[in-house]
Amino acid sequence: MQDILAALGLTEVTSGVFAGEWLDAPTGGELVSVAPATGLPIARVLAASPAEYDAAVDSARRAFERWRVVPAPRRGELVREIADALRREKAALGKLVSLETGKILAEGEGEVQEMIDVADFAVGLSRQLYGHAMHSERPSHRMFEQWHPLGPIGVITAFNFPVAVWAWNALLAVTCGDTVVWKPSEETPLTAVAVTRIASEVCRRAGHPPLFSLAVGGAELGARMAQDARLPLVSATGSCRMGVAVGEAVARRMGRSLLELGGNNAVIVLDDADLDLAVRAVLFGAVGTAGQRCTSTRRLLVQRGVAAEMTRRLVAAYGKVTIGDPLSKDTLMGPLIHARAVDGMMAALDAARRQGGEVLCGGARLSRAGFFVTPAIVRAQAGMEIVKEETFAPILYVIQVESLAEAIAVQNDVRQGLSSAVFTRDLRAAEAFLAATGSDCGIANVNLGTSGAEIGGAFGGEKDTGGGRESGSDSWKAYMRRQTVTINHGTELPLAQGVRFGE
Ligand code: UN1
Repeated sequence: MQDILAALGLTEVTSGVFAGEWLDAPTGGELVSVAPATGLPIARVLAASPAEYDAAVDSARRAFERWRVVPAPRRGELVREIADALRREKAALGKLVSLETGKILAEGEGEVQEMIDVADFAVGLSRQLYGHAMHSERPSHRMFEQWHPLGPIGVITAFNFPVAVWAWNALLAVTCGDTVVWKPSEETPLTAVAVTRIASEVCRRAGHPPLFSLAVGGAELGARMAQDARLPLVSATGSCRMGVAVGEAVARRMGRSLLELGGNNAVIVLDDADLDLAVRAVLFGAVGTAGQRCTSTRRLLVQRGVAAEMTRRLVAAYGKVTIGDPLSKDTLMGPLIHARAVDGMMAALDAARRQGGEVLCGGARLSRAGFFVTPAIVRAQAGMEIVKEETFAPILYVIQVESLAEAIAVQNDVRQGLSSAVFTRDLRAAEAFLAATGSDCGIANVNLGTSGAEIGGAFGGEKDTGGGRESGSDSWKAYMRRQTVTINHGTELPLAQGVRFGE
């Protein structure tokens, strides 16, 4: 463990505030980062007081004044250097992610790869921040739109993707000419310190202003950011409850929020599906990251003809899942993030039983150090209340359906709308799932699972998931302000809509 920390320049007590430089001894209290696999402390991080948070925002504001005039392709060069640095640090950072979150090493490294991928994407984007040109209805007039940097952006991230989600936001934001103030999850301050060290060192060496402020802290700090009119945009990832609070507070001051909140993602498996694919996809979706992705598969809606077979195969596959040290290469499932998450899983299973569900396998706490459970499969009915909630744990509810139409109705009958998938060989069924009357989610997949999205697409969902889109496609537009420009290069002053005035 010490070697992982040392490789990333972390010490047993670390400052959690970067405000243009690392503050020596922040006074906002101490967060203990705990390894979920052992329940033991890894290191301590000193959090930001309100004044120290202000310093972090001020630094980002000052940096913005200088950064916004740097041409976008030059900004992209900095992001390319960050990508290079992340490539060099991938092994060490992947291990730290694994240590601090409990996700297995392959996924810890995968998360760092996700940062690298989005950095590469942003480098290309730095030459493609395109605006449209329109044909004016007036003679000798030209119309177009241009995109300007927005300001210092607040980024609030969750424990489960402690660094990739920062990268989605921060690397796009700086490409757009913004700067960043980051409040990471209280559970994962160390990875945030490590990443801020890497990124700020690249800025310093390149002679650029410090673009990446960090303020470690708890929920009250997040609330402060939401109310902070100096942050024109707050991008927040986490629970639906947190998102409502942030969204309301940001709206009250007419700021913008970008919300990426809970999911309750379903996989539909039809009678004609390739069950080999479906079983593997559901296993990865429901058990991967110990069920702690916002894209995790929480519901399996399986058509009657293959319900028994699919359930049997899944129960068998669950029996073979190796649970243990996330850093050991044979492990498929690590621990949950903390004891409260284990309690939450047990409470959800109790509720499921009370509501008529039958636990087919798993659902036990492991009596060993750390926060380990066995992943559970529950035979359930669509109407059960607990099935409509997102429990951030490896519980898969299996619900039998008669038809695709019923499956779509059940899938959409929850408050969340992030990710969805159908397994079928029937083109018409797949298209029905993708049609306007099909899945109501932000992500819809055919013959692959609900989790593990690539960075190139816009990531996010509808309804209580918050409506925000991050990462690929045109998500960058959220981080800029749009200006519609009309230029009159003639000698007349024609008015739009043909209005005549005082002639
Ligand atoms: C999240 O859980 O907040 O699609 C993000 C996925 C990952 C990102 C998940 N690329 O599962």
